[in-house]
Amino acid sequence: MPTPALFKLIGNTPLVQVTRLDTGPCQLFLKLESQNPGGSIKDRIGLSIIEAAEADGRLQPGGTIVEATAGNTGLGLALVGRLKGYRVLLVVPDKMSTEKVLHLKALGAEVRTTRSDVGKGHPDYYQDYAARLARELPGAFFADQFNNPANPLAHETTTGPEIWEQMGHELDAIVVGVGSGGTLAGLTSYFRKAAPQVGFVLADPKGSILTEYVDTGRVSDTSGSWAVEGIGEDFIPAIADLSGVRKAYTITDQESFDSARSLLRAEGILGGSSTGTLLAAALKYCREQTTPKRVVTFVCDTGTRYLSKVYNDGWMHDQGLLRREPLHDLRDLIGRRHDEGDVVSVSPGDTLLTAFNRMRSTDVAQLPVLENGKLVGIIDESDLLLKVDNHAEQFSSLVGATMTSRLETLHPSASVQALRSTLDRGLTAVVADADAFYGLITRFDLLNHLRRTLS
Ligand SMILES: Cc1ncc(COP(=O)(O)O)c(C=O)c1O
Repeated sequence: MPTPALFKLIGNTPLVQVTRLDTGPCQLFLKLESQNPGGSIKDRIGLSIIEAAEADGRLQPGGTIVEATAGNTGLGLALVGRLKGYRVLLVVPDKMSTEKVLHLKALGAEVRTTRSDVGKGHPDYYQDYAARLARELPGAFFADQFNNPANPLAHETTTGPEIWEQMGHELDAIVVGVGSGGTLAGLTSYFRKAAPQVGFVLADPKGSILTEYVDTGRVSDTSGSWAVEGIGEDFIPAIADLSGVRKAYTITDQESFDSARSLLRAEGILGGSSTGTLLAAALKYCREQTTPKRVVTFVCDTGTRYLSKVYNDGWMHDQGLLRREPLHDLRDLIGRRHDEGDVVSVSPGDTLLTAFNRMRSTDVAQLPVLENGKLVGIIDESDLLLKVDNHAEQFSSLVGATMTSRLETLHPSASVQALRSTLDRGLTAVVADADAFYGLITRFDLLNHLRRTLS
């Protein structure tokens, strides 16, 4: 079988200068790893890990590639491995985004989900689970990106030389994140030989232990949690080489997500959450310099993987990462606000089928019924079921004849106690006044509000 032509498109990614964000006295360039065929920097290691294992016989025709992965490495391995005809078996922690799991399955990988609330040493920990599967399965090869030298080698032989060429051999610093540590270790090996004056800057999510390790040499035994995916660690990976890191920045989720969003608005580049971390650290570094420097960082993966998170105002609000101007009344508790265009609704003249399709596509169980911007009713799954049970033709009847129109509305100035009593009685909490409908408050919104008062 011929080698898939697509493999030639892995690597040789474009480099683009940041021109519309404040980079202080520096020039900042972004290497668009999002342009790899699988959408991330990990395509490079997918190819190198598989080809190294084929070359030394650890992976034979008909074999199975096994890996523990929370994301992009699985996609890189699945893309290359499936095209080469291998079975690909991936163990993923259950917090992994639905988009990534669906993408893996669409590529033909088999996905085993395991717990994300257990650590190293526990049999259900995703890396231990994958290692066990690889031992037990005949013909299996454990890709093991955290320990596999073919991981840093991909960056030493491709990413490093590409950057050096693209920068015209004028480069002062590279800003990197560490997941397995492969990117940093490979770039460190390459530049140590090619241009030892190039320094490394670490971008580390708040909660990860790596910044403290760089600053003090201490390996903390307590880590926090962070929402950014792919980088940050609660241990020092075996292949990580932090010896070339001159400065480390701790970046909060808020800063990461804000800077990913501003990169899209300012430069039109749609990157993932870790791109935001790297960019935030790179901009800090650039602005702190007193002499001009030429700096490179990465758009590590495509933001299409995070549209339902980083680029979704509703999700950002639920996470407490997008703050609205407080109105100091019940409107502050509404998750999806009608006056912000975030409420999906129907009108009394719509059919029940339209209502059902909207519920299905937006994954909600109830919809407000609006007429000229005013709330005239609510329709939910049980209203639909009552009507269409054994009478599927009733899907063509109208929302106006089925909705619940006896509504108990809460004025924005009503108390949280009044809200609780509405929810406790099993009613839908509708926030409206004589002029306008503002939105619904669900139990989830109330829980979110209570959580926010903690932080
Ligand atoms: C999503 C993602 N995965 C992985 C990496 C790098 O990881 P590694 O240290 O495994 O090379 C990055 C970024 O630098 C990343 O953004």
